[in-house]
Amino acid sequence: MEDKQVADLTEDEARDELARLALLLGEANTAYHGQDAPVMTDAEYDVLKRRNTEIEVRFPALKRADSASDQVGAAVSEGFGKIYHEIRMLSLENAFEDTEIADFDDRVRRYLGLTKAIFYTAEPKIDGLSLSLRYENGMLKQAATRGDGNIGENVTENVRTITDIPKALIGAPAIVEVRGEVYMSHVDFAALNERQAAAGDKTFANPRNAAAGSLRQLDPTITARRPLRFFAYSWGVLSEFLSDTQMGAIDWLKSLGFQTNPLTKLCVGPEDMLAHYRSIKAQRATLGYDIDGVVYKVNDLALQSRLGFRSTTPRWAIAHKFPAELAWTRLLAIDVQVGRTGALSPVARLHPVTVGGVVVSNATLHNEDYIAGHDSNGNPIRDAKDIRIGDWVQVYRAGDVIPKIADVDLARRLPEAIPFSFPHLCPECGSEAVREEGDSVRRCTGGLICPAQAIERLKHFVSRGAFDIEGIGAKQIEMFFADSALPIREPADIFTLESRDAAGLIRLKNRDGFGEKSVTNLWAAIRARRTISLARLIFALGLRHVGEVAAQDLSRHYQSWEALCAAVDLARPAALAHRAADEAENAERVAAALEKRRAQITLVHTAAIAAANVPSDSAAAWHELITADGIGPTLALSLSDALANSEERASIDRLIAHLTILPPEIRATQSPVAGKTVVFTGSLEKMTRAEAKVRAEALGAKVSGSVSAKTDLVIAGPGAGSKAKDAERYGVEMIDEDAWLALITGA
Ligand code: IVH
Repeated sequence: MEDKQVADLTEDEARDELARLALLLGEANTAYHGQDAPVMTDAEYDVLKRRNTEIEVRFPALKRADSASDQVGAAVSEGFGKIYHEIRMLSLENAFEDTEIADFDDRVRRYLGLTKAIFYTAEPKIDGLSLSLRYENGMLKQAATRGDGNIGENVTENVRTITDIPKALIGAPAIVEVRGEVYMSHVDFAALNERQAAAGDKTFANPRNAAAGSLRQLDPTITARRPLRFFAYSWGVLSEFLSDTQMGAIDWLKSLGFQTNPLTKLCVGPEDMLAHYRSIKAQRATLGYDIDGVVYKVNDLALQSRLGFRSTTPRWAIAHKFPAELAWTRLLAIDVQVGRTGALSPVARLHPVTVGGVVVSNATLHNEDYIAGHDSNGNPIRDAKDIRIGDWVQVYRAGDVIPKIADVDLARRLPEAIPFSFPHLCPECGSEAVREEGDSVRRCTGGLICPAQAIERLKHFVSRGAFDIEGIGAKQIEMFFADSALPIREPADIFTLESRDAAGLIRLKNRDGFGEKSVTNLWAAIRARRTISLARLIFALGLRHVGEVAAQDLSRHYQSWEALCAAVDLARPAALAHRAADEAENAERVAAALEKRRAQITLVHTAAIAAANVPSDSAAAWHELITADGIGPTLALSLSDALANSEERASIDRLIAHLTILPPEIRATQSPVAGKTVVFTGSLEKMTRAEAKVRAEALGAKVSGSVSAKTDLVIAGPGAGSKAKDAERYGVEMIDEDAWLALITGA
């Protein structure tokens, strides 16, 4: 499924794919930001993140609460004080193709309702790490890394050692936050690595890692010995505004004594922007520092503020990334990993190779078809060349294709190389691994007896959107799972840990880095989670197809765990009939195709359900389940299978015994239009339709295209026609644009 175009994914595949991407991107984020040790190249990361976004755009309901689209960087590490960013530090949307820049410009103009050309600044995207500097009454008071965008690390003392950063500003407003990029030049990077190697210390993979590692030193005297540089390109809180254009603001920063990038240029329209992109790209190798693309920003700050932000990126800027690089290397081995839902994922172990500045030694191989050289419909990929252990393979990442082994060099294939035979037994537990009809993934059928599935499910159980137990992460789960004295084999075991520890001879304290305080904290964290919302509980169970959104939908619909279970149990006979009907329908489809006849296949479905003689209350419960908001038959079947599996159910019951489950809260927001259904009609003068819709939705309103008895409010501009009439007919309140603005701004 990983090699499928987003447009071809079914909803179920999309859900699985989002889960897979969440895991990969989450790990990559932690490795990059938390440990300054990337596990993939930026280009690889971008490709995955982009695929994630594309899937979310196609299936907005499947968006996960832990989606990478909502995350900027990673949580701050221990050791530094935390600084809250009053104005969030954002990330940028990425583009790879020229056509996407024209699309960006179109989007911006459409949003603003402008037809004339717009001015943009275009400047290099510095490959470093962003930093926010706060000056009060002209003096440098605080410096913070981006962190997760909201809270960064206090690196003030380290930043005082950077010569590019003024310690005092002359003629600046009382409060100024300057933002920009810390980086290390190529020359300084090479010299630093030489010194490190000579001293027997660790060397850095690239200048950005060196810059990050140097800035995030607990000892400022070390930072002082590392030659860091800084370019200013943005700002946060300002007590007084400095300019009405981006370019003017940059000039102002320069006049205050900051370094600004000399390649920053004002462009008008996409062609001009692309010309500057090509010029910067041509100079890339001679700049003396790493850049990974060009950033375009709407020049007019009033337009910027009208465009505003999405969850983590501004609508008024975009990063045009340079294409990624290619590298040839040897495939040393193919490992097969088993995921939470039993999916067997092959991973390529590569002879380490540098791609875009980072050493890569693993690549995903997606699934068995991918290795064999075709997609799940049998169409060839890589000219149908299969991948064999020992092959020379080309590692490739760029654009909207996901990272893949782009090619295999058959000329260098060893004569003894044999086609890879994908395991039909789970490598972790030996259970049969099967492929369902239409699924490109082979799955272990071992369920909870499979240690890999059990451990991945536990990791999911304690993860952020689930029980989120402070002090228990993936690492602790691995440790406890293998522990013979205080094992955690299923979620319920977490809640008996404290009593088992108290009763046992071997105590957690003083083992595996647990001190007295961390043990006390752990018990408190676990106790706190004995009370949990229904939605979190459902999500935490980690059932296939039941993501965070679906868990919320189920929670809202059934209101209690007992009601949900009762409904799913009651619906079981109907669920089985539904599956049998699906199978009959498939068989009929195949037969029809073979005989080249067009049968009325759907009748088979109805007939098969009728033949199963399902009690009417079961049919009703099933109908309610599959038609509930956000729930479809695939999810319902998965839920039904899980709860009907006696071992699974027993394990869940053991967990439930420790919990107090809270029903869903009724969504109450402060906004006067929250929960209201509104319709815009006629022409709007202060904002475009798109802008109006986004704002209304952000305030919790539902924007509909047509007026009905369910509509709460119609906002009518000049020229409103049939919708205004409908509003009268249904007696729906109607207001004009000014009244709407007054309503939502509280004016
Ligand atoms: S503007 C609200 N301009 O790229 C927009 N960012 O991928 C803030 N970066 O977090 C960012 N050079 O660390 C901007 N000329 C530039 C940049 C730049 C590098 C970094 C920055 C940002 C990241 C987003």
